[in-house]
Amino acid sequence: MTTFLILGASGNVGSALSATLEQAGHTVRRATSRPAGAGQVHVDLVTGEGVGAALDGADAVFLLSPPGHVNQDDILGRVIDEAVARGVKKAVLMSAMGADADPTAPMRKAELHLEASGLAWNVIRPNWFMQNFNSFWIHGITHQSAIQLPTGNAKGSFIDARDIADVAASLLQRSDLDGQAFDLTGAESLDHDEVAAILSEVAGRTIRYQDIAPDEMRPGLLAAGLPAAYTEFLLVILHFFKLGYSAHVTDAVERITGRSPRRFRAYAQDYRAAFA
Ligand SMILES: NC(=O)c1ccc[n+]([C@@H]2O[C@H](COP(=O)([O-])OP(=O)(O)OC[C@H]3O[C@@H](n4cnc5c(N)ncnc54)[C@H](OP(=O)(O)O)[C@@H]3O)[C@@H](O)[C@H]2O)c1
Repeated sequence: MTTFLILGASGNVGSALSATLEQAGHTVRRATSRPAGAGQVHVDLVTGEGVGAALDGADAVFLLSPPGHVNQDDILGRVIDEAVARGVKKAVLMSAMGADADPTAPMRKAELHLEASGLAWNVIRPNWFMQNFNSFWIHGITHQSAIQLPTGNAKGSFIDARDIADVAASLLQRSDLDGQAFDLTGAESLDHDEVAAILSEVAGRTIRYQDIAPDEMRPGLLAAGLPAAYTEFLLVILHFFKLGYSAHVTDAVERITGRSPRRFRAYAQDYRAAFA
């Protein structure tokens, strides 16, 4: 039996990952920035509070940087250093597809920090999550029946967060793929008109895609409470989506888990209540 610390354990990926590891008979410490309940440990990744104690006695850790923060290298560097100091053996870091494009970008610095740490490691770089449609973009879908994004007609190989969790669970429990990074995508690449058509069919009402300018998107993100720096970061990566950098499909999910990733239609059916 292995003890795992899971950061972001109440989130899209961490919740499914924690459940899978527990079902496999392991001990799971679910990190939360809120007061800890049963099975949870209090960790504030922004201040570093609780990081050392949460790692003490853990064999392996799943790392992510919480949304809203652009200093991923500071946030994750501290956790990686504590993991080394506390004798943790392995870390799987979730960054994002494209993070390795710029060696000076904070997320890439965090990846390089892990690679140089001496821990056994994997880096997983997922593409845009399907779950964004039932969370970040749901306001427009509910109130305007529209997906409003500055992404033109570019395609994205969206991935289901549950497939990312399955990949992370596999990598945390095996060592044959240690020292490797993987771009994780879904099985198909869709533009937002195609996404809207699938959501419409599954929801039984018309949902359309509306291509908007970045300047039209900014006020909504700020009004939703996103910090200014993270808002600009999001607009930059949406621009890269528009340029086509999110379109390619990899076979990493299938290679690691032994089965093909979920299709967008299957995701939409599972989350139908959010769109109907
Ligand atoms: N969405 C995408 O399309 C996409 C694509 C590629 C990569 N990513 C990456 O995926 C990560 C997000 O993963 P997710 O969607 O699974 O998470 P999520 O659903 O957004 O949940 C965020 C998690 O972070 C925890 N958290 C928030 N503030 C914290 C703090 N100060 N200290 C400790 N924990 C904190 C929250 O738990 P508590 O509230 O319990 O503290 C929650 O479990 C980000 O690093 C993002 O860059 C996202």
